[in-house]
Amino acid sequence: MGSGIAQVSAAAGYETTVVEVNQKLVDRGLGMIAKNLGRLQEKGVLTAENRAAIDARIHPSTDLAALSGCDIVIEAIIENLAEKRVVYAKLDEIVQPKSIFCSNTSSLSITEMMTATKRTDRFFGMHFFNPVPVMKLVEVVRTIASDPTVYQSTVEFAASLGKTPAQTSDRGGFIVNRLLVPYMLDAIRAFEEGVGSITDIDNGMKLGCGHPMGPFTLLDFVGLDTTYYIAGIMFDEFREKRYAAPPLLKRLVMAGWFGRKSGRGFYDYADPAAPKPLDGLLR
Ligand SMILES: NC(=O)c1ccc[n+]([C@@H]2O[C@H](COP(=O)([O-])OP(=O)(O)OC[C@H]3O[C@@H](n4cnc5c(N)ncnc54)[C@H](O)[C@@H]3O)[C@@H](O)[C@H]2O)c1
Repeated sequence: MGSGIAQVSAAAGYETTVVEVNQKLVDRGLGMIAKNLGRLQEKGVLTAENRAAIDARIHPSTDLAALSGCDIVIEAIIENLAEKRVVYAKLDEIVQPKSIFCSNTSSLSITEMMTATKRTDRFFGMHFFNPVPVMKLVEVVRTIASDPTVYQSTVEFAASLGKTPAQTSDRGGFIVNRLLVPYMLDAIRAFEEGVGSITDIDNGMKLGCGHPMGPFTLLDFVGLDTTYYIAGIMFDEFREKRYAAPPLLKRLVMAGWFGRKSGRGFYDYADPAAPKPLDGLLR
């Protein structure tokens, strides 16, 4: 997510400093940006000159101090509250007080993160979608402590990245995951109850509702571990059954079947071009 955010920021004309934990990971992120920009160049969407300008606006580092003069800092480290709070406490000391902090968290509370800093009035969620250069939405999340003027500037910044901002408040799952997660969990429950096969449920939503992919293809794409984790956080927040992970999801995650990234989930990806539904094993 971090490399995607850096790419859209630099492409929108902003000087962009990126920080990773070591040089190997910096290089991996820059490699992902180079691959994306290369593809755009091949398609003729990006000229060599524009590409060079984007590259020149990206300033990599392994030192948080490199962020000291930034106007806005967008954090996209691992989805772990304790880890994020440690990073924010350090950043608060390093980065100029007028700067805005934003977290790309999918499910953690912005309010719980902002209290690691003294700038609670200029601390927001800025939730991008994967893959960042392609997906048009950004949820911009305010808290009860937000300064309304600074919030509006942050919404405008998101729009200046070529995205459509959706304004929302700090409630578990924001807008998209609040609606999407129960839908995906319901598909698993329907399968568990024998309502239909993986293929028929996927086809139902794809061909009957015009979704670009069915719920099981989407679950495998998002990652079953990620979905399980987010569902747990949302269940803790709302205590409603619709956010509770169905037993089958838990079993898949415990078995290490995380979906596309691990080679198996609701489908088997031995041949990634022709995923095979695993109804027989999962019933
Ligand atoms: N993957 C998605 O589809 C998606 C979508 C929207 C939001 N998010 C959110 O974005 C964030 C990152 O997700 P991801 O999928 O890119 O995770 P990831 O594990 O692929 O990347 C996280 C990166 O953060 C780096 N990191 C960890 N600690 C760091 C530190 N102290 N300083 C600098 N870098 C550090 C890690 O080295 C790693 O490269 C999470 O909060 C996640 O919830 C993910």
